[in-house]
Amino acid sequence: MFLLLLPSFFSFTHSCVRTIPPDDYYPTVPPTQMPTGPPITNPPVTVAPVTNSPVTNTPEDQCTACDINPLLPVNPPAGSRIDTTEIAAAGECKQTRVDCTRTDGQTCDIAIRGGTTVLQSVTNMETVSATLTCEMNGMYSSGTANGITTLTCEFTNCVTAVPCTACDINAISPNGLPAGQMFSSVDTTPAGGCTTTEVSCRRTDDQYCTGVSITTSYLQATFDDITGGPYEIASTLNAGLVMVGIGCEDDGNYSVRIVNGDNNPFIFVNPGFKINLQTDGATDHVFAFKITWTPIPNAPQNIIDVARGNPPVALQPNQNLTIFRGNPMVSLMAFTLPDPSQAYLLRQSAIYSGDTFIGTLDQVLTSMTPLTANKISIYTFGLSVDYPLYMASDYEDTRGIMVYEGANCPVTGDCSILLQGSWGNAMTVTDYNGTEVIRGFDGFPGTAVINVYENQVSESTRIATLTSDNYFQQIPLEVKGVMKFYELNGHGLCNMTVTRL
Ligand SMILES: *[C@@H]1O[C@H](CO)[C@@H](O)[C@H](O)[C@H]1NC(C)=O
Ligand SMILES: *[C@@H]1O[C@H](CO)[C@@H](O)[C@H](O)[C@H]1NC(C)=O
Ligand SMILES: *[C@@H]1O[C@H](CO)[C@@H](O)[C@H](O)[C@H]1NC(C)=O
Ligand SMILES: *[C@@H]1O[C@H](CO)[C@@H](O)[C@H](O)[C@H]1NC(C)=O
Repeated sequence: MFLLLLPSFFSFTHSCVRTIPPDDYYPTVPPTQMPTGPPITNPPVTVAPVTNSPVTNTPEDQCTACDINPLLPVNPPAGSRIDTTEIAAAGECKQTRVDCTRTDGQTCDIAIRGGTTVLQSVTNMETVSATLTCEMNGMYSSGTANGITTLTCEFTNCVTAVPCTACDINAISPNGLPAGQMFSSVDTTPAGGCTTTEVSCRRTDDQYCTGVSITTSYLQATFDDITGGPYEIASTLNAGLVMVGIGCEDDGNYSVRIVNGDNNPFIFVNPGFKINLQTDGATDHVFAFKITWTPIPNAPQNIIDVARGNPPVALQPNQNLTIFRGNPMVSLMAFTLPDPSQAYLLRQSAIYSGDTFIGTLDQVLTSMTPLTANKISIYTFGLSVDYPLYMASDYEDTRGIMVYEGANCPVTGDCSILLQGSWGNAMTVTDYNGTEVIRGFDGFPGTAVINVYENQVSESTRIATLTSDNYFQQIPLEVKGVMKFYELNGHGLCNMTVTRL
């Protein structure tokens, strides 16, 4: 399932202000942005009673008797094939699926015609299918086409597919952004997979903005007829950053996607959202998803005032609506999971600034940057894990840190903690009441210094200052206390291995 295709980005940041808190208001809980009523049910279908007029059995017999084979083209076009599959149970009226498929790796605009009528068509795909129904008169129909006697597959505008590793993020990145704005991208391609990239637009100064968005000049909507642009693909409110994950498609263009086969829920709290469906050209077209409407429960509020100079307040997900209140501004950061393959759990969250839904913990984590507002509320929909997922800190205490995140490690074994200093100073925090041992570094940048603090960041709680020249003499290094702060000052990427005792 893909949402949008986007060959080129612009980024717009608008109405940026210098950390002046927006109106001081609480969310009126529960935020009732989702429909709270019962799902709309279709009126019951009443089947007309069978009348007692004489019944002849012949028509019913004929709808099991259609034969698809005489309708098929004798020679399908070179580089293609046509397949049929009977999908009705034996003895029932026949339903036959017809697939027109490229076999030469090309993608085309494909149409299946019944006589002269187009039964189904797609653009720039490898395959298309149509379902034909056998009628009482013994003839096939499909949609508005009745009495079909011939089927043809028509392939036009064929192009050789570009591998989904061929996308070039540099080709679509914005150039010449105004001072104080930065576009960045991180390659997140899984081993052997299609190219995926995390893109973000952020402020590099201390401004946050009432709106930040990433837009594209081009959009292909599958079932919608949209022209014009630019199209917004991601946006945030009252923030200094917006980010979105994009994936490379088989045509060498990027798209924002939700991929079939992901069985974990996505939670949308926006009052409206749009999903464009498109199969990925595979020959198996099975695709399913379910939308469940749930009113947001009237959760108890847990108000936490966050003060300057204190360590961040880290919390496990809980049943409350947690409200972090700043003086005047608060920053919210998310934690990685002990098992990175469970990162989808962070999607089960809603974050509000005032009454406005601004995103999920998943987005905060992938953005790697604090989310800033004067009050931030978090609700986690009954999510239950025994490690922290988010933390809040005074905004002033997070200033100047380009990447700030929490890390959870497995109870046993080596844990890789990434200090992501590619854009400047970075901070990674663990929240674990026990000793953590720094065992080593996979690449220690000569351009960075790593400070290690126990319980809070201060001169007196700093237990080590590591550089590329001296770190080797200092490890293994035991870090005690509850919160542990690994601060990268300078520039560079540093992968640190720790174990917990
Ligand atoms: C890929 O992007 C280009 C514009 O850069 C567009 O012309 C082309 O149609 C796109 N391909 C598809 C399959 O959307
Ligand atoms: C939930 O909020 C109440 C106050 O409303 C507080 O007493 C309680 O400790 C909170 N629970 C958690 C798990 O934060
Ligand atoms: C940390 O663990 C120690 C010993 O197990 C305990 O005394 C202390 O209260 C714990 N601290 C916190 C903040 O949980
Ligand atoms: C960090 O190091 C570990 C162990 O050496 C490795 O498995 C992991 O892929 C590395 N991560 C990054 C982002 O380099």
